[in-house]
Amino acid sequence: MKQILILYYSRTGNTERMAKAIAEGAQINENIRVEIAYHVNAEELSAFDVILVGTPTYHHEMPLDFKNLFEEVAVKGLSLKGKMGGAFGSYGWSGEAPRLVLEIMKNKFEMQVVEPPLLVKYLPDQKMISNCRELGKRISENLMRGA
Ligand SMILES: Cc1cc2nc3c(=O)[nH]c(=O)nc-3n(C[C@H](O)[C@H](O)[C@H](O)COP(=O)(O)O)c2cc1C
Repeated sequence: MKQILILYYSRTGNTERMAKAIAEGAQINENIRVEIAYHVNAEELSAFDVILVGTPTYHHEMPLDFKNLFEEVAVKGLSLKGKMGGAFGSYGWSGEAPRLVLEIMKNKFEMQVVEPPLLVKYLPDQKMISNCRELGKRISENLMRGA
């Protein structure tokens, strides 16, 4: 069984809508388990085959909880090397946070990242929700192919 984590933070629900749509799209068959979570610890994180992080941008930053999590993975020397990673999130005007997450995944943890990140300005409309579902589906298909 392959495992996909969708870890997200959302204060007003916009990134949460994206996370749920990605999860729906990713659940393509019974050989994939999709977990959607607000918080995991470093050991839990490193048990997944795919890690997707949903982060809005507040004050040009990602949430402190995600910074602490990446710090914990690094300090404990846990390996995420070669795992598939992605990032998405709602934003208002600058939207840096998902790019910052991908940068860390790629440069620090040597993960295989899906670029570019999926960004939505404020509330996702139906078109963006369907783009989210499509992203989830594509990631699961890649995982099943062993890509
Ligand atoms: C206090 C505050 C600071 C914000 N800072 C930024 C920012 O630096 N860059 C940006 O693109 N959007 C910024 N935003 C907009 C949020 O990213 C946007 O409202 C987003 O949809 C929130 O997503 P969420 O509902 O998942 O929390 C800010 C919003 C607030 C309330």
